[in-house]
Formats: sequence, C-alpha cells, structure tokens
Amino acid sequence: MATKMDGTEEAQKKAITYYDKLSVIYDFISNWYYKKARKYAISELKINRENTVLNLPCGTGENLKYFQKFLQNSGNIIGIDLSSGMLAQARKKVEANNYKNVHLIIENATKIDQDWMKDFSNGNFPEKVDAVFCDLGLSGLPEWENIIDNMISILRPGGRIVILDWFIEDPGLKGAFVKWIGKGEVNRPIYQYLKTKVSDFKVVDSFNFGGVFVASGTKP
Ligand SMILES: C[S@@+](CC[C@H](N)C(=O)[O-])C[C@H]1O[C@@H](n2cnc3c(N)ncnc32)[C@H](O)[C@@H]1O
Repeated sequence: MATKMDGTEEAQKKAITYYDKLSVIYDFISNWYYKKARKYAISELKINRENTVLNLPCGTGENLKYFQKFLQNSGNIIGIDLSSGMLAQARKKVEANNYKNVHLIIENATKIDQDWMKDFSNGNFPEKVDAVFCDLGLSGLPEWENIIDNMISILRPGGRIVILDWFIEDPGLKGAFVKWIGKGEVNRPIYQYLKTKVSDFKVVDSFNFGGVFVASGTKP
C-alpha cells in the first residue's frame, strides 16, 4: 500500500530523482565551477595519512581525488548520498583508480548520527571520524541544523568540519538561478550556525564572485 508523503518527503523524492538524472553530466558543471573552492575546502580539513573522513553528501565522488592527495589510499573515506545515480558515478571513479579506502553508502543524510556511526563501524572503523566535509548539501536539506549537530557529534575532539555551500542574503536573480539548478535554498545561515558550534571558526565567502563560501572549524 502506498504511504502518503508529506511536503518534505515529496520534495526530497523529487530532488533525488533530479540528481539521479543529473548524475551523468554533473561533473562537467561541478569540475570547473567549484574546483577552486573544493580544493581550498579539502585543504582546510587538515587530514593526514590513515585518517577517516566522512563526506556528506558525496555525490559523484568528485572530492575523492583531493582526499587521496592527503590519504594516499590509506585510512577511510566514507561517502554518503541518497542518489543511486550519483553514487554510481562515484563507484566508477573508485574502480577506475583502484581506490581501496572508499566506502560508498546510500543513506539519507538525516539518519547519520552517533548511533548510525556505531552500527556502521561495527568494530571495523573508528566510531569517531577525523574530519567531515559537507559540500553543496545543506542548502538542499531542511534539517540542516540537525545535520550540522550530528556531524559534530561524530567528530573526535580536535576533528575538523568543513562546509562548502551557498549564502546569498538577498537571493535576487543569481540566487534564483542557483536555487533552480541546485534545488536548495541559498539564504540559510549555515556558516553563521556553524560558528556557534566550533572553535577556530573561519569563513571565506568570496568564491565564484561571492555567494559560495567555505567555512571550517574544530570540534572543541
Ligand atoms: C549539489 S549535489 C553535491 C554533491 C557533492 N557534494 C559535490 O559537491 O559534488 C547535492 C547532493 O545531495 C544529495 N542529496 C540530496 N538529498 C539528500 C539526502 N537527504 N541525503 C543524502 N544525500 C542527499 C544528492 O543526491 C546530490 O548528490
């Protein structure tokens, strides 16, 4: 029997169907448009060999090559996304590059918390991760505050969280276009919220002629 979906679930389903379709061309857009912000953001994770990094949402795995510069196929990269299409593209990169430390999981971002990590790690992975990277996801997720709290809860003390996303206070035409293409909101105070939760908070909000920010902090 079909269950009735509320507005949030329906919007979620639509977004995932959209990303399933977009997955085949996603890298063409994202490769050039976000390259600079992505490279900087991943350097701010301050990861080293043998570290465990969680990427939410991991999309097509565009970040994998940047993580590997620091991890060199050691440690763990846990990539989570709800779109099977996006994950299929990420899997292709894992196979083509013979990455041994990547774990791609289809899951709703809202489910990732300490209990989820405990079940997932099951003695084989650390329950607390060294770094979390949330790129271009929170603007599309109504539960973004909860997700930030959960991401910090799964970080080890001293671990790093980095968020790459959009913030345009008065969206205007540029904001409307980004909302249409990204299926998210551009005026959520994401980095302002992060600032209240971490130490060493830093934000650079001038990427892509303004609007794209990279915010980072350390779990106290
Ligand atoms: C703009 S893409 C960003 C992907 C990747 N982080 C990047 O920068 O290339 C947004 C991603 O969020 C994923 N997504 C949307 N809602 C989600 C949810 N509830 N849980 C997990 N992933 C979700 C989509 O499938 C899509 O891959």
